[in-house]
Amino acid sequence: MVLRDKLAIGRVTMIIRNDNVFLLQTMNTSYFMQVLPSGHVEHIHYGKSLLSAGQYGELLKGNAEDLKILSDMAQAMGIKHHHEGGNMIAYSVETGPLCLEIMPLEMSSFGKGDVREPLLEISHSDGSRTSDFLFEKAEIFDELSELETLPSSYDDGTSKTVCSAFSFDDKAQQLVITLRDKEYNLSLDMIYKVYPECDTITRSAVLYNESENKVVIDRLLSNQLDFQRTGLQLTSFHGRWADEMGMSQSLCTAGKVVSEEISAGESGSRSNPFTMVSTPDATEDAGDVYGLNLIYSGNHYSALSSNGTFLSRFVSGIQPTGFAWTLEPSEKFEAPEAVMAYSCKGFGGMSRAMHNFVRKHVVRGTWRDKERPILINNWEATYFNFDQSSLLKLAKEASKAGIELFVLDDGWFGARNDDHAGLGDWRVNTKKLPDGLNGLADKINALGLKFGLWVEPEMVNEDSDLYRENPEWAVRIPDHPHSLGRNQMILDFTRKEVQDYIIDSMSKVFSSANISYIKWDMNRVFSDSFSRELPAERMKEFTHRYYMGLYRVMRELTKKFPDILFEGCSAGGNRFDLGILSFFPQIWGSDDTDAVCRMDIQRGYSYGYPVNTIGAHVSAVPNHQTLHTTPLETRFSVAAFGCFGYELNLSELSEAEKKQVADQVAFYKQWRSVFQFGDYYRLDKYRAMVVSKDKSLAVALIFQKESRPNNDYLALQTKGLDCDKLYRISNRQVKINIKDFGSLINTMAPIHVKQDGIIHGIIARHYKMQSEKEDITTTGSVLNSCGARLSPAYGGTGYGEDTRMFRTNDTRLYIIAEVK
Ligand code: DGJ
Repeated sequence: MVLRDKLAIGRVTMIIRNDNVFLLQTMNTSYFMQVLPSGHVEHIHYGKSLLSAGQYGELLKGNAEDLKILSDMAQAMGIKHHHEGGNMIAYSVETGPLCLEIMPLEMSSFGKGDVREPLLEISHSDGSRTSDFLFEKAEIFDELSELETLPSSYDDGTSKTVCSAFSFDDKAQQLVITLRDKEYNLSLDMIYKVYPECDTITRSAVLYNESENKVVIDRLLSNQLDFQRTGLQLTSFHGRWADEMGMSQSLCTAGKVVSEEISAGESGSRSNPFTMVSTPDATEDAGDVYGLNLIYSGNHYSALSSNGTFLSRFVSGIQPTGFAWTLEPSEKFEAPEAVMAYSCKGFGGMSRAMHNFVRKHVVRGTWRDKERPILINNWEATYFNFDQSSLLKLAKEASKAGIELFVLDDGWFGARNDDHAGLGDWRVNTKKLPDGLNGLADKINALGLKFGLWVEPEMVNEDSDLYRENPEWAVRIPDHPHSLGRNQMILDFTRKEVQDYIIDSMSKVFSSANISYIKWDMNRVFSDSFSRELPAERMKEFTHRYYMGLYRVMRELTKKFPDILFEGCSAGGNRFDLGILSFFPQIWGSDDTDAVCRMDIQRGYSYGYPVNTIGAHVSAVPNHQTLHTTPLETRFSVAAFGCFGYELNLSELSEAEKKQVADQVAFYKQWRSVFQFGDYYRLDKYRAMVVSKDKSLAVALIFQKESRPNNDYLALQTKGLDCDKLYRISNRQVKINIKDFGSLINTMAPIHVKQDGIIHGIIARHYKMQSEKEDITTTGSVLNSCGARLSPAYGGTGYGEDTRMFRTNDTRLYIIAEVK
């Protein structure tokens, strides 16, 4: 029974107010603040829940007497002001010894004594840079509002979760606190959305110019989170093209730790906008962890700083370097929405909360809750070198293997035979595809596959008709040399006519054939940023305006083509963020398809993004990015922990490999809903598992980073299974090639077999060994607490049918099913 029924009250509210004290409550967390007599909003607490379920229930009844407990809590927990510290600024005579510098605040502006990093910096028309925003009003809403210029989180009421302590079955709620700077007649809405079932709270800020003068916003960040301690850790994710999401951890005892994308113009592989703040003792399963992200795709800035006394501050938002925005009278400016998920159950607890939030409140549309198709992409199979018949050959093989979607990547349009020409000319190249896209799609459909297509709408090559006809649409500084990236330029998406042109030209492409999927690529970072339409003094608005334009285009197209599954891409994961995921349910994770590298890259993503948002494919060996060779089963097992597909020339596989692919496809289909919608657990470094929401099914992956002889006592220790349930564990059996034993075949063969000779080849073709077979039945409690011991691995001596062949870079998938 949910709390509302128990208490016989109407709407269960997650936001409780007593006068000027505000409590935002989720299943396991509380966010607590109060308005001070000065009008500043004190941030009192964000973290573990401050209430028991019983106390919360009492509060919900709304009796004035019960609500007083909130004020008592604020009184007990709030900062006490006894005296001014040394050389600090006392805010005003009336407020006595109130020094903003040592106050945990919800919003800090520049110039009134809070000398720490501000959320907001404004240059006023008189040249002053001092702002003073104080509480004006607050309002609680049952319906969530959306930003007008940027994507927002949302709640359609379908993600009801009931947990032991609190039982919410209502939609998220929203609190808007309005602050006003009465000296300059500006107001600031601080918008908080509370998503109870996934322990997530979001924040955004909207600045209104109610004065008669224009002002320049030098920064308006989205999030400010003050902590009453120092020595916190910032975890951030860095890398470069084809090496995304490397995890980095820095302790901030004093000074500042930053994760930012300064001028790349995209959320970026150099620094992903997702970060975490944690106590230094936090582990995967215990300790305080805050997951922090932005629903934004442009340059971003996140910083954890500490004043060396007893406070830390985390801020995050649009990158202030290179940014300024002129706000005319009556105009408003929206900062992107920031996301916060807290867990006292370590990095793992936070990740699962964040995954639930992203899956239900960021990703939207037809494909949100639908199983994603298994695809074959022709990029690494053919690159630019294809024609209709080679594509159909690939599609036939894919269809035989049970693959569901054929994706035609780059090179199908204009004079696009390499990456020097054609971007912008979105007309099918009939030399390669004589029957057009429509003809090709029909033939692919006839093979039982859906048809998908690659586009890169934001870009233009100099060698293209589009550029020849509209050179002023490209981003460059007129009469100055400009730099190219992958031989291409960016189209000026700040301009409405360019946006309209792209909406129109893409609509024509998307409706020119039976297209079920679109891969939307973007292959260079920004340089020479400039728009001919912006006056000189507004040029620092360029990148943010670009994203407002891009979001408009994405919004229109996804609305117009609701059934198309869109996959974002930016030369791999160079723009992997919640802004893109608000329109496209999945993003290609990396141009590095090497399974070993992918283990690390996908693990990096897993901290902030759910499995079913990360595109992951099985590709050829030697791998095209690393020249490294890994077994087909390993490539499969790793890619299965993502939006799964293949990207290699299936026709050139051996018959045995083709069978293996068909077997993988069948296996994945059977377990797809667990992979795509289950809860994700990071086990030890090279292990992970997914568990269905009802905990009846799970799949675990063990990866052998480096095998050593006589050294294998492997156990499968799980997380997330139901301790009270009984489970049966088996492994995904694989075929073993006798050639993997090399000359050891001679320890068994009656005649001498020359390694890799003709006889060796014949034996290998006709005789396939089956891997070990695990069959263990035990309780979730055994599996979670100490694990089940697995059959021994080959270790240099002996071999039996139970021996696990577990070479360097081998993997095993273990399937775990409840015994009913
Ligand atoms: C970069 C993408 O990440 C690749 O997957 C591929 O689509 C190429 N672009 C095509 O040019």
